[in-house]
Amino acid sequence: MQSSSRLNLVGSSPAFQHALKTIHRLAPVDATVLIGGESGTGKELAARALHYLGPRSDQPFIPVNCGALSDTLFESELFGHERGAFTDAKKSSQGLVGEAEGGTLFLDEIDTLTAKAQGALLRFLQDKSYRRVGGKGYSQADVRVLVASNADLGVLVQQQRFRQDLLYRLNVLCVTLPPLRERHGDALELANTFITRLGHQYRTPERKLHPDAIAFIEQYSWPGNVRELENVIHREFLMSDGDELRCEESRRRMAFATRDDVCARSFKDAKARAIAEFERRYVAELLAQAGGKITDAAKLAGKDRSAFGKLVKKYTIEADFGDFALN
Ligand SMILES: Nc1ncnc2c1ncn2[C@@H]1O[C@H](COP(=O)(O)OP(=O)(O)O)[C@@H](O)[C@H]1O
Ligand SMILES: [Mg+2]
Repeated sequence: MQSSSRLNLVGSSPAFQHALKTIHRLAPVDATVLIGGESGTGKELAARALHYLGPRSDQPFIPVNCGALSDTLFESELFGHERGAFTDAKKSSQGLVGEAEGGTLFLDEIDTLTAKAQGALLRFLQDKSYRRVGGKGYSQADVRVLVASNADLGVLVQQQRFRQDLLYRLNVLCVTLPPLRERHGDALELANTFITRLGHQYRTPERKLHPDAIAFIEQYSWPGNVRELENVIHREFLMSDGDELRCEESRRRMAFATRDDVCARSFKDAKARAIAEFERRYVAELLAQAGGKITDAAKLAGKDRSAFGKLVKKYTIEADFGDFALN
């Protein structure tokens, strides 16, 4: 088994170990790696592992959320700008590529880049030369570029929302993180790790999971992946008394019923529960596909935004306007 405790990458399932093996193999290569996987599967953690296990580990690791960069500011954010290059440019700035010099630049949510930004990135990746906005000469960057995407870039190319030539350039070395539902046994291992970690953080006596909580963690599909599990454990840890976590609150919120519970209920009640469980999973899975954006998820569902938003609120699922995320 790959030893990655130093990097806090937890999981013994074959699916996760396969991804970990790829990470260990690609870390020393010092080339661009495309990291794929649903939201919350650990893409940023994987990017950090690629950096810290590689030759640039004592140099900066600079994560950038591409979704937060506007079309007009993309080049100046990335490459920097000279003083007076545009109205708001009171001072010159070195840009994120300059900050990452010698180290690694991690471009997260690359699927959100606009056409213009995709063009600028492709030019930069050809030979890593770049020019500050408003500047004259070109500089040569010494950075490793890692990129991540929740969305399938191949599908975006078909929909003409992502440049094929950029995908060809990015698609050479890849690692895909499996969704938690395909990582048998890992949810429980992760939950126990989080409980131990929280115990140290809050200096509380040792606590463990009640058998009902274990059954829930093992059977639930975790559409929000490790992030959702981490949030659930965090909330349960803070909200429950005693030395056992029962996860009652989460089981209720997720309308999750064990087999015994179902048999003990009337048909009407059991049906309502099943519908609620379906609704919750459906909404959470669509939101995960839409990168947490209500408007996009509503479109995928063929519902209007406010009706879909009501469902999101009903099940207190993490979204753009989510209010229960603990990290
Ligand atoms: N294998 C793992 N072991 C421990 N923690 C993990 C693992 N994968 C993800 N996490 C945790 O889950 C959360 C989401 O991970 P992140 O890397 O941000 O996911 P993504 O970028 O794919 O949305 C983070 O708090 C991260 O530390
Ligand atoms: Mg991320």
